[in-house]
Amino acid sequence: MTEKHYGGASSHGMKEKPSSASNKIADTKKKNDNEPLEDNSTSELSSQDIRDIKLAGEIAKKVVDYAKSIIKKGMPLIEIANKVDTKIEELKAKPAFPINLSINEIAAHNTPSWNDETLASGLLKVDLGVQINGWTADTAFSLDLENNEENKKLIKSAELAVKAGTDKINLGVKVNEIGKDIEKAIKSQGFSPIINLSGHSITQYDLHAGITIPNVDNSQVFALEEGVYAIEPFATNGLGTVRDGKPSGIYKLDREGNVRDNFAREVLQYIVDEYQTLPFCSRWIYKKFGSRGLLALRLIEQAGVLHHYSQLVESGKGKVAQAEHTVLLLNKEKVITTQ
Ligand code: CO
Repeated sequence: MTEKHYGGASSHGMKEKPSSASNKIADTKKKNDNEPLEDNSTSELSSQDIRDIKLAGEIAKKVVDYAKSIIKKGMPLIEIANKVDTKIEELKAKPAFPINLSINEIAAHNTPSWNDETLASGLLKVDLGVQINGWTADTAFSLDLENNEENKKLIKSAELAVKAGTDKINLGVKVNEIGKDIEKAIKSQGFSPIINLSGHSITQYDLHAGITIPNVDNSQVFALEEGVYAIEPFATNGLGTVRDGKPSGIYKLDREGNVRDNFAREVLQYIVDEYQTLPFCSRWIYKKFGSRGLLALRLIEQAGVLHHYSQLVESGKGKVAQAEHTVLLLNKEKVITTQ
């Protein structure tokens, strides 16, 4: 799952700083699990963390194979989403975020609502995440569901780009060098990278942990250290940027806060316990609490504690293809966990 750059915040390769609410919520959860305090550091990965990161990747691969086997033109997006959610559960993991099923010029952040009637068609991007103890494997692929040559070329372009990025990434490599190779791969096929979408660092319970991996050669000379990184190129025949579209129904807990309504408080507690600071969606809240849950979600949103993601739409209404893999960088090894 990607992140749009808003103004200057991402132009240095770093967010201002990770939100303290995220840390606080994650810390609270950890204490409940009786983990030792020193494990709260996210800068050094424990052997347990590394096992979780790799396991999440192994499961994500199986989920991708499954998704590729079931998705057909004309299938309701809600059916794809529900089946993938069930598959992740069967494999004893949790979704790291709601599956993104985005068609044609919608680049990302489309997930079906509980009553969605959209059918799979055109150039479909499937972006899914699996988490084990808050460690995420983030991966995406694109499908041409209308037997269209341009779609196929766009998909090839995104796949070449993710290969270029995963080949290039390593300890000490500067993020703009990765962006340069991604850009070159996409342009070699005659398309444009989407420049205001990027890959990202991943930490425990934080899907976008502060470092961005650009899809273009920019001025970010930040060199990578040990950690988990998603390489996430988007190729388009449009203008090469995205703008905010409709609200997506995908949310993330942004800060701590209270709601007055008793039931809404119960739903908020469920969100804190179940998703912590990872993204979730209205469909999941409806599944758990019914339509009352959706009313509660509105109250929680009004209380200002949630970030509501917008759909991301290509600025020139161009078609968009995406590919994504998660990479674990350690001093001794580099593992593409989702490949
Ligand atoms: Co991602």
